[in-house]
Amino acid sequence: MKQRTAHDGDRIPGLGSMALLFSIPRIQRNPLAFLSACAQRYGDLARFEAGEQMACFVNSPTAIRRVLQDNHRNYTKDTIQYDQLATVAGRGLLTSDGETWLSHRRLIQPAFHPRRIEAMETAILRATTAMLAEWRGRLPGSVDIDAEMLRLTLQIAGQTLFSIDLSRDAPRLTQAILTALDHIVYRASNFLALPDHIPTPRNRRFHAALATLDDAVRDLIDARRSQSAAKDTPPDDLLSALLNATDTDTGRQLDDRAIRDEVLTLLIAGHETTASALTWAWHLLATHPEAQEKLRREIAQVIGPRPPQYADLPRLIWCRQVLEETLRLYPPAWLITRRAIQADELDGHAIPAGTLVIISPYTIQRHPAYWSDPDCFKPERFAGERADYPWPRFAYIPFGGGPRVCIGQNLAMVEAMLILASLAQQFWFEPERGQSAVDIAPLVTLRPRVKGRRGLQLRARPLQL
Ligand code: HEM
Repeated sequence: MKQRTAHDGDRIPGLGSMALLFSIPRIQRNPLAFLSACAQRYGDLARFEAGEQMACFVNSPTAIRRVLQDNHRNYTKDTIQYDQLATVAGRGLLTSDGETWLSHRRLIQPAFHPRRIEAMETAILRATTAMLAEWRGRLPGSVDIDAEMLRLTLQIAGQTLFSIDLSRDAPRLTQAILTALDHIVYRASNFLALPDHIPTPRNRRFHAALATLDDAVRDLIDARRSQSAAKDTPPDDLLSALLNATDTDTGRQLDDRAIRDEVLTLLIAGHETTASALTWAWHLLATHPEAQEKLRREIAQVIGPRPPQYADLPRLIWCRQVLEETLRLYPPAWLITRRAIQADELDGHAIPAGTLVIISPYTIQRHPAYWSDPDCFKPERFAGERADYPWPRFAYIPFGGGPRVCIGQNLAMVEAMLILASLAQQFWFEPERGQSAVDIAPLVTLRPRVKGRRGLQLRARPLQL
């Protein structure tokens, strides 16, 4: 069949109301597969109509650039995706808009200054070293890399951003976060889901998970306030910045709800995504032993037997390329949505006011017009200088783009590289014997699933140091 493109006539090709209705089971089964199929069938812009409501799936770098950067003021986060996230994380940086977003972004941004990130090295390495020591005691054997990366990155987020030790609570909190996030995915994809206030077992689990998270954040804030009241010097971290911040217009401090929302947003956004990236990196390295061996050799040459450090990162070139290629093939934040405030034009097509705009880093980062062998793992495509990369800037958006670009992207890269290097230095990973295909589950982030079960078991063997 001839591939249609967005430029075949004025009307954006896509699905009318009836066709969309019949597609609901497919969308519910796998929204990522549905979007990929639409990109193939309809080209760079696809229209989905539901009565008066119109959605546009945008899969061209020029249109994505206009939405996220050039005309970003016209596009809000007033979408189901962010409304659902807000039921867990509240109206923090990720889900808020307008003046609130801008003032909070200005407040939080300094915590991600390169000097601050460099100072986070100790906390990242301490948590990673403790995990590796525990592994050395029980491996060779099987390890659920997904669960391990989630626990590790949550501990690191707690320590680096809020100076709290979550080593004991990490398993309980990661479980609560997963339960809450799974629930919002379920709710968003099941139109017949009973409202949250009806005490079904699923809804009860969701409320219990929310209560666990709320309690943890309240304890954190209370502990810090009593430390200040006792005139102990509180750590100079993001929590202190949030507690001491005053609104430039009103002169008032942030209320407890706003602080809770920002803390929870940063804990969730800051660990789930990085854990997903690391899990997929290990999946790729375990299934591409030559790439893993190249990483091991690079670490031996650049670092030797001592632990990796922040200062080593510029010389860990293959390590960075592996991560960048992992983020291309498996972008943890696979879905970005916006709503058009006023009518706009994308790639020459009229976009009515109120249109829901859907962007998927996953589909644009596998677009055959910009990527050769788009589904193949080829870290070497990221060799050389960024400015010389052959693809347009907005064909590679694992961290989004424009003013709402991920605030934690530099921290995520530093953290992921230090963890990847530490693990590669000490262990060799192989796929679990007899493990069937690893599926991609497009939940809030992309997660691995094997035979319908979440998680990814790998065989890990300690290396001689
Ligand atoms: C590999 C790891 C990460 C990935 C792939 C990732 C991806 C993204 C993406 C795509 C966005 C833009 C969403 C949009 O435009 O709608 C975003 C925003 C955000 N991310 Fe990340 N992120 C990562 C790590 C982190 C970390 C470590 C933190 C914090 C510690 C963080 C905190 C945030 C916040 C607060 C926002 C909202 C920023 C704003 O709107 O001002 N992320 N992230």
